[in-house]
Amino acid sequence: MSNTTSITLRVNGEQVESQVAVRQSLADFIREDLALTGTHLGCEHGVCGACTVLLNGAAVRSCLMLAVQADGTAITTIEGLAGLDGKLSPLQQSFMDHHGFQCAFCAPGFILTAQTMLEDGKKRDRDHLRAELSGNLCRCTGYQSILASVEAAMNFAGAASEDGA
Ligand code: FES
Ligand code: FES
Repeated sequence: MSNTTSITLRVNGEQVESQVAVRQSLADFIREDLALTGTHLGCEHGVCGACTVLLNGAAVRSCLMLAVQADGTAITTIEGLAGLDGKLSPLQQSFMDHHGFQCAFCAPGFILTAQTMLEDGKKRDRDHLRAELSGNLCRCTGYQSILASVEAAMNFAGAASEDGA
């Protein structure tokens, strides 16, 4: 019996067809087969959030999923948030502007988790933000600059939607 199978999915808007080992994790598929190394691997057992990607718009831990489970889905990695011209997304820019990272190992996971909050449009105060980001760990920043980065991007998005932008 073959230990590989073929999968078809969209990654950052591009159609991808690939032969994968049935036991290959989604994180390894993204990093090794697709060379999208912005998805980081820390704990590899679902604790740190560094490997977070969006799967059909929901934040998931790619170390806990098999590549075959992503068959037929749409994945967004940190590389897919920037525009085609390389312009950073509002959250990415906010992390730059508000010093939301130091070594940046955790940043892709935080940004993609926060992206789901930006997209649902709900207002959150800092306590709610802290709670919703608590599944992502950072060893460097002490979290304040991360919260400030997310808050600023959310305020900017809120102001833009109130202006009808
Ligand atoms: Fe996936 Fe830590 S590497 S949660
Ligand atoms: Fe280093 Fe978060 S900036 S782990």
